[in-house]
Parts: sequence; C-alpha cells; structure tokens
Amino acid sequence: MNRRNFLYSFSFSAAAAILSGCEKGSDKSAKLDKKSTQTQEIAQETPKNIQRNKFEPFTQELKIPKEIDFEHIAKAKFNAQKSLSALYKEKETDVLTFQGDLPNPTIRIKKGDDFELDFTNSLEKPTIIHWHGLLVPETMDGHPKDAIATNMVKEYRYRVDQSAGTFWYHTHPHGRTGEEIYYGLAGLYIVEDDNEKALNLPSGEFELPLIIQDRRFDKEGDLVYKETLQDNVGVLGDVVMVNSTPHPYKSVKNRKYRLRILNASSARIYKLAFEGIEEFTLIGTDGGLLEEPVTVKDILIAVAERIDIIVDFKDKKVGDSVMLKTLGFKEGSTFGTNSAYPGFGAKMDIMKFQITELSDDTAALPAKLTTIHRIKESDATKSRTITMEVIKGGIWTLNKKPYDMHRVDERVKLGSTEIWVLKNSVHMAHPFHMHGVQFQVLERTGKIEFPTDKGWKDTVLVMPTETVRIIVKFTIPGMFVHHCHILEHEDHSMMANFLVE
Ligand code: C2O
Ligand code: CU
Ligand code: CU
Repeated sequence: MNRRNFLYSFSFSAAAAILSGCEKGSDKSAKLDKKSTQTQEIAQETPKNIQRNKFEPFTQELKIPKEIDFEHIAKAKFNAQKSLSALYKEKETDVLTFQGDLPNPTIRIKKGDDFELDFTNSLEKPTIIHWHGLLVPETMDGHPKDAIATNMVKEYRYRVDQSAGTFWYHTHPHGRTGEEIYYGLAGLYIVEDDNEKALNLPSGEFELPLIIQDRRFDKEGDLVYKETLQDNVGVLGDVVMVNSTPHPYKSVKNRKYRLRILNASSARIYKLAFEGIEEFTLIGTDGGLLEEPVTVKDILIAVAERIDIIVDFKDKKVGDSVMLKTLGFKEGSTFGTNSAYPGFGAKMDIMKFQITELSDDTAALPAKLTTIHRIKESDATKSRTITMEVIKGGIWTLNKKPYDMHRVDERVKLGSTEIWVLKNSVHMAHPFHMHGVQFQVLERTGKIEFPTDKGWKDTVLVMPTETVRIIVKFTIPGMFVHHCHILEHEDHSMMANFLVE
C-alpha cells in the first residue's frame, strides 16, 4: 500500500491553467502545455476516489498538549520524525512529530527567560523550525534558507524579550511547509509576563489551547495530502481537528474559560461562534493582549492568526452543551475549490463543550488589560506597496515575483518605521505574514471590520481586492520573509525576502 506517499508531485503549469481558468473563465486547454500527461494523472486523483472514513463526531475527548515549561527545564529537544499517532480512537496513522506523538508539546516561557532547544532533523529532506510571532535574531528565526539536512542538529538559543502572548512554531522548508504542517509539525508557544499574571485571567484547567486544523482522511482513517489542480487555491478538509483530535468534546464547568485559539489549517478561514452563547470576549491577538476586552458575537480567524478569548459558560447547567462552530465565510473567495470537500464558505461544527460540573467562580474580567503604544504615522520614513497577485502561469506571487530564497526583495533601514500598503488584486483573501516584527493595522478599505486590528499583529487578513495599510518598526537586523500564510500559496511562491540593515 502506498498510502504514505509523502512526496507529492505537482505541476505548476497545470495548476496555472485551472487557476487562470477559474478567475477569468478563459479556455483552460489553451494553457496546458506538454506536461499535460502529468496533468491527467493528477486530474484522476480528484477526491471522488477518496472514500471518506466516517468519523463519529464528539465521541473523543479533546487532547491537551503536554507542556514544556522553561520555568522547570533549561533545555528542550525536538526531533522532526515520522511517527504513528492514534488521532481517531485506536486507529494509528502516519504523522510527523517533534517528540513522537501528536499533539506536539506547548512551549511555555516567561518574558526575559532564555530559550534553549536542540533540533534534530530526522526527515528525508532539509527542514527548519520557525517561531511564528517571536522576535528573535535572524539566525534563530528559521528562514527557509537555513534549513538543515537530514540528521543535522540546529541549536536554538535566544532570550524571549516581548510581552505575553500566544505564538506558535512550525517547520518552514521552502516548498514543503504545507505538507509538513499538514502531517503534524506545528505547536503552540506561550509567552507569559508579570503584567499578564497580575490580571488573574482563567488559568490551569480553565485555560485551554485550541489548535484548529481541517483535514482529509481516506477510508482507512489515514491523513491524505494530495494537491489536485483544484487545490492550488488551498487544501480544504472536511474533518476539523482540534489539538489533533477530530471533532472532540471537552467537559467543562459553568464558568469562564480562556481559550487560546490558533488556526493552523492549510487554507480555511473560520468565522468562529458558539451555539448557545451569544457573546464572548476577545482579549488578545497575534502579538499579545488588547488594551481592553472587546465583546463579539463571532470572529474571523485566518490561517496562522491567534485569538485569545474568554468564553463564559455561566448560564449553562449540568447536562447542557455548547458547540464551537464556524459560521462559514463566503466573502473570502470566489474561486472554485475541490468539490469533494466543504468549500471556503462552508458552515461546520468544530467541537462541543459539555457542562459537567458547577462552579461558583464568577470573577470578573479586568477592564484594562495592557497599554499598546500606537506607532505614529508621522514616524514612518517610507511607504512601500506589496501586491498580491496571480501571474501568468497561475503562480501566486507578491509583487509579481515568484519566491527566490536568496533574492533580496525589500531593503529596509534598521531602526526605521515604514508603512506597508498591502494590495490584494485577486478575488481571494490572503493572510499576510511578516517574520521578525509585530505590526499595527492602520486602515483597510473593505467593509468588514476586524476587532483583531486593534491589537499587535504578525498576520493580517487582506480581503479580496482590498488594500490594508500597516505600520511596522524594524528593530532586528537580517533577512526575514514576508508571505501569504495559506500554506499552498506560500509553498507555491507567494513569499519574498526583506533585508533589515
Ligand atoms: Cu508561520 Cu513564515 O510563518
Ligand atoms: Cu512566521
Ligand atoms: Cu494567498
């Protein structure tokens, strides 16, 4: 059985044809070149041949990642490896892990502490770990050019010097990030500080990490990652896993919980809401806490974004349940997607909270969480425009240039502040991410309001044909990447380098 086909092949020109076909309604066959034999092979793999395993939802309890807490240990070890993991019941499936099983551990560290981790690559191809959202020196950031070969070890050593927040880590090899994250190589990274501790937010069993990922499984219950032509817009699955548990349930008490939510999917944008609870509270974004809590009814979370929320089950009684779901989000794209799986606009149930115990804890949230110093527009010495577009051949790009690992695309002065104008010229939303910085959103031209725009961001969703202006201060020298965080876009070239010097 060749179900473990980790190496997928993908024809750009074929994808290109479909893609430009989608967008312009042009004649697809005109663009198919001599690679069309390969095209046919790929086309036959459309998921009508994939018979899906029937997962019974809400029968498995949510797995909580174990923690690596740098308060108690000085150094950690990661080893990217093939492993077996029982994602659904006892059925073991091939995955990729850092320590032998999924979910990967959550890293917890205090501002000011030293992070030490030795990373071994036991995969067949070069790879590298990136600490998404962390402000670390260039050599520690995990740029794709720094990928290490099989059996090599990279020593990560840096001091964490930023405010409390919810970050994450994942591998970042050029062209294979989508596949590696799909099979498991990602985890959560929590930074704490004294300011946040003093707020007394729900903690311990009342603080839950939720890593959301939609996936495809075959009829044997194994994960499948095959990019067919229709998947060039991004791989969408029908089974939503939270912490590597397909459609889990979680027993809770009727009180406040802090949920640190990460969208680590390949492409799907979720519009999260709770059935049975009308409102919840946003307290933090990618880069840390908001100044004040914001009450919302639902919230958008694109790939790579994090939201820190408080949900209160206080009006529920024992025996009640509350569904976390996505309301669907059709404004994100007009592109066709793989018809065997729920499209971009799909409504889906994600996980169920079951109230099993009463609680008398009714502590209120503080009204003020932190202070966010607003970067002044007048501090900016330069403005540059980054366009998001599909070029001839159907390749996703920034500024019409497919990614080259060694080309410097933007030169930035160390210590300077700039305005980046992110211009989306396609009918599809792109989550734009920058390494080595946290930025602020100045304004957007679209109609949808994003409460997350109030906080520090490292990833911002730019809606179809929208322009978003962000302001960034560059404090770390070196070469970093900026890219679309839809994993298939980033892999198929929607990425660029900026050099801070
Ligand atoms: Cu999540 Cu280039 O990063
Ligand atoms: Cu990143
Ligand atoms: Cu994109």
